[in-house]
Amino acid sequence: MRIHEFNPRLGKTEMIKVLETLQDNWITEGEKTRQLETMLAEYVGCARVVMVPNGTLALFAALKVLGIGPGDEVIVPDFTFFGSASAVVLTGARPVFADVDEYDGNLAVDAAEASLSEHTRAIMPVHIYGQSCDMQSIMALAEKYKLYVVEDAAQGLGVTFGDKHVGTFGHIGCMSFFADKAITTGEGGALLVNDDELADRCVYFKNQGRLKRGSFVHPHMGYNFRITDLQAAIGVAQLARIDDIIRRKRLLRDAYYQRLDGCPGLRLPDDNGFGEVVPFRVNILVDDPQGLSEFLDRHAIATRRYFYPLHLQPSLTPENSVVRQKPINSIRLFESGLMLPSGLDLTETQLNKVCTCIEEYQYAREASASAGLLPQQKSTFTADASLP
Ligand SMILES: Cc1ncc(COP(=O)(O)O)c(C=O)c1O
Repeated sequence: MRIHEFNPRLGKTEMIKVLETLQDNWITEGEKTRQLETMLAEYVGCARVVMVPNGTLALFAALKVLGIGPGDEVIVPDFTFFGSASAVVLTGARPVFADVDEYDGNLAVDAAEASLSEHTRAIMPVHIYGQSCDMQSIMALAEKYKLYVVEDAAQGLGVTFGDKHVGTFGHIGCMSFFADKAITTGEGGALLVNDDELADRCVYFKNQGRLKRGSFVHPHMGYNFRITDLQAAIGVAQLARIDDIIRRKRLLRDAYYQRLDGCPGLRLPDDNGFGEVVPFRVNILVDDPQGLSEFLDRHAIATRRYFYPLHLQPSLTPENSVVRQKPINSIRLFESGLMLPSGLDLTETQLNKVCTCIEEYQYAREASASAGLLPQQKSTFTADASLP
């Protein structure tokens, strides 16, 4: 049987909550959504939460509500999911791709500062793979240059900087509840807002220009970015078990790290020390992630490569985005990172199989290297002349 890269943990409580919602005969956005918003606000420690259909639309909504649009630039790390950048492009503004820290993959503050221009209106720290960005330095930078801060905390549930939850530092924080996140609603997203007036603007934006439904007077322009109570019901059940989910994620990473300690040619990323870490997946760094991934695939083990650098995406061109400095660390991370199967139901036997296969591949590579049989490792992109 194939070992999956990830699968959500859904159980009886999710079924009960969905059944309750069906019995209430109210499946569009309603009481369950309000309940999830209240629970989330309490969990992350922010004043208001506004649910939206997914993390990408959360980012898009946040930028639009802050008035970001054509002619504006937004600093985005080069190493993140495509949605962080597409949300900017779809407002008509241009993402400016800045390099990331070589260790944790989070936005490098000096690279962000070097990427600013007179058009920069906002900065988007993305808390990648379950670790916080350096929010103290990012907030200081934003203050210095009078920038909006839209935090992409899509992968950040449970993650803190110091003792403050990510997504609550900037003007608006954005979360995703896609199936591979710490908790899921299938598809889903949330806006975290501390300012009441800004939160109301988010509600106008998502609810066709009204604060409440049931009225046909629309004081503002707005989209329909509502969710369904069926999704919220799943979220309520999931969030009630967040502590257990986080504990399991950490245990899984510890078990892999212990088992893979000493494996040749393999590095296990350290925590950056900024606060609570919630491993998004169990990640390793090797010199041939593609070869290892294909080898594991032949043994029915699914893995996932690290993010492909945004400035190299075919759809992010000089017409709709900007690169002022070559994002070297983003390229390096892509060329070395691999995510191992990290489903919370992974058994000890499965974990052992994954690690045994990794060891087999890495020891064989080491033997070939010492016999001089490995071709010189060459970066896929470093020589690309089209890069700045
Ligand atoms: C860092 C990051 N930003 C944004 C998103 C977009 O979220 P969604 O898939 O809910 O649109 C994701 C989702 O995978 C993500 O990982």
